[in-house]
Amino acid sequence: MKVGNKHYRTIWEDENKPGIIQVIDQRWLPHKFIIESLKSVDGVVKAIKEMHVRGAPLVGITAAYGIYISAIEAQQKKGYKKHILESVEKIKSTRPTAKNLFWAIDEMLSSISNLDDIDEIIRATRAKAEELAEKDISDCKSIGEYGFKIIENIYINKKGSGVESYAPTVNILTHCNAGWLATVDYGTALAPIYIAHERGIKLHVWVDETRPRNQGAKLTAWELGENGIPHILIVDNAGGHLMQKGMVDLVLVGSDRTTAAGDVANKIGTYLKALAAYDNNIPFYVALPSSTIDWEIEKGENIPIEERNPDEVRYVDGLYKNEIVNILIPPETSPALNYAFDVTPARLVTGLITERGICKANKVSIAKLFPDKIRK
Ligand code: MRU
Repeated sequence: MKVGNKHYRTIWEDENKPGIIQVIDQRWLPHKFIIESLKSVDGVVKAIKEMHVRGAPLVGITAAYGIYISAIEAQQKKGYKKHILESVEKIKSTRPTAKNLFWAIDEMLSSISNLDDIDEIIRATRAKAEELAEKDISDCKSIGEYGFKIIENIYINKKGSGVESYAPTVNILTHCNAGWLATVDYGTALAPIYIAHERGIKLHVWVDETRPRNQGAKLTAWELGENGIPHILIVDNAGGHLMQKGMVDLVLVGSDRTTAAGDVANKIGTYLKALAAYDNNIPFYVALPSSTIDWEIEKGENIPIEERNPDEVRYVDGLYKNEIVNILIPPETSPALNYAFDVTPARLVTGLITERGICKANKVSIAKLFPDKIRK
C-alpha cells in the first residue's frame, strides 16, 4: 500500500543490512510514521507484545522473521538449537489468540527440522520467512478478489432497474483494523474494499473499534484516508443504530482465530456487531487467510482469549499540541477489565472469505475448501 507516494509493506528486511527487520511502529499512527528496526529476538517479542506490530497475519509473519533473527543470534551461541527453541517459547508467549502466530512458528520449525548446519539454518529461515510473507500477500489479494464479488453484487442489487446514471453507494461497516496494517500488504477485510474502489464502485466505510484501543479510529481511518476511500468514524455503540436505520449494507471484519467449524474470534465488540447485523438481516462476512484457522478446535469457547493491561481501558492516548499524550478517564482507583477479543458463533456469520473462495461458516463447507487441512 502507498503512504504518500511510496509503496510499503508492513514488514521487510533491510536491503543493506541483512538480518535487520523493519516494521512500521503502529503505536504512533496516525500522527507519526515511524519505522522500527528489529534486531534481536527480545526486540521481536516486545514489538508483538506491546503491539508495535499487530493484526493476526502480521503477528504471524513477524514471529517468522523472529525465528530467522534467532538463527542469526544462535550463530554466536554454543547450543544453537537450544537458543532457537528458547526463542520459539518466548515468541509463542507474546499473544495467545491469533492462530497465525503459532501457525507461522510451526512452518518455520518444519523448514529446519532436517538441518544441522547453522549457516544452512539461517539461509532456510530467511527464505521461509520471506516465503510466508509473500504467501500472506497473495492470500490477501485472493481474499480481495473473492470479497469484491460480494460488494459488486450488493452494488448491482442496489442499482436494480433504476435510472441508468444512478450510482448507489455501498455502505460497509468494519470493526477494528483488518487492513494492510494488519497483514503484510492489502489486508483481509479491507482488501475487497480497495479492489471495489479501484474498479469504480461507489462505496463508503463506517469505521469503528473506538475502544479499547481505538484501532479503527487510529489505523483503519488512516489507511482508508491514505487510499482515498470515503469513510466516517463512529463510536462502537453506534453500529446497531445505523443498521436499524438502513445505513449499512454489509459488515466485513477480519479474524484472529476461526475454528474448524466456523466460530470466529476477532477484536472485542465484533460479536455485538454480528448480533445487530443478524437482527437487521444484514450480511456479516469474515475475511481471513487459512493461516487463521485452528484445525484442532471446533468450539469457539476453546479459543484462548487474551486479557490485556486494564490501563488500556483506563487511559486514552491522542495528539495534544503536537505531542502524543496519555490521559486517565475514570477515577484513579477504579479497576478495569480488558478482554481483547470475543467469539462470534458461526450461526451469526453469513460466510467466510478465504484465499480459496467463500464458504459457509460450518465444518462441512470449510472442509470442502480445505480438504488437505482437515484432521484425518
Ligand atoms: O489486537 P490486534 O490489533 O492485533 O487485533 C487484531 C485485529 O486487528 C483484528 O481483530 C482484526 O480484525 C483481525 S487481524 C486481520
